[in-house]
Amino acid sequence: MSGSPGTPCLQLERVSRHFGGLKAVDDVTLTVEPGARHAVIGPNGAGKTTLFNIISGEFPPSSGAITLDGRNVTKLKPHQRAALGVARTFQITRLFPELSVIDNVLLACAALDRRKFTMFRPLSSHGDFMERAGRLLDQFELSNVRDERARHISYGAQRRLDVALALAGHPRLLLLDEPMAGLSTPERVAMRGLLEQLDPSIAVLLIEHDMDVAFSFAARVTVLHQGKVLADGSRDEVSANELVQQAYLGGSVNS
Ligand SMILES: Nc1ncnc2c1ncn2[C@@H]1O[C@H](COP(=O)(O)OP(=O)(O)OP(=O)(O)O)[C@@H](O)[C@H]1O
Ligand SMILES: [Mg+2]
Repeated sequence: MSGSPGTPCLQLERVSRHFGGLKAVDDVTLTVEPGARHAVIGPNGAGKTTLFNIISGEFPPSSGAITLDGRNVTKLKPHQRAALGVARTFQITRLFPELSVIDNVLLACAALDRRKFTMFRPLSSHGDFMERAGRLLDQFELSNVRDERARHISYGAQRRLDVALALAGHPRLLLLDEPMAGLSTPERVAMRGLLEQLDPSIAVLLIEHDMDVAFSFAARVTVLHQGKVLADGSRDEVSANELVQQAYLGGSVNS
């Protein structure tokens, strides 16, 4: 992905996804600018993960259009969107648990490399993968566990590894689905620090339940409620929005 100036990194136009009679995502229009820090918040079942599945290509939308850097990708498969610079983490971690931490990262680097590489040569002999993997492990404070199996490292380290894997292919748009869920307070602080230091040229869309985290990380916030956009704007606009206050203070929202 390399958009021309003024072209949004991601645009959703009137996107919906129905599961039977359930409108999990309902007529969502959303723009993410290049390098944006953008949070998606909303209660359980609001459609946040479904929205990510639509953006990454896991699910085709029932209707609507998805554009990456001005290119309509609505019909493209996940690996085709990944090749265009979309990366994501999952709400439930998806590591290779029996592989070492470094091999997880090397595989992610190789999987997203457009050049051919031979299966019969150890990944570690590809110097540029090794260098990139080493840098990612340093960045995510994983160097001290690089040779441990992924299933043996702490949960906090596994979540950091999730983000490192998503970054392995140099994405332009990074989708983070509750990267702090289940972390202890110190682990959350560490993750926040790491997210704040992400390359500013990468657009980051973050799903987060903790409003303080969402509003401190993101300059722009979209609130989903029952699949619809309840509010969208700068963090000041959204935090002042009456419907948002009602929803988060437990009042009823007319949809
Ligand atoms: N593959 C699916 N098949 C059927 N229904 C689904 C599927 N995926 C999601 N749903 C339903 O769509 C709605 C939205 O789910 P989604 O996982 O997107 O919500 P969410 O905002 O991510 O919630 P949470 O905060 O709990 O993660 C829910 O009612 C969910 O049960
Ligand atoms: Mg979810």
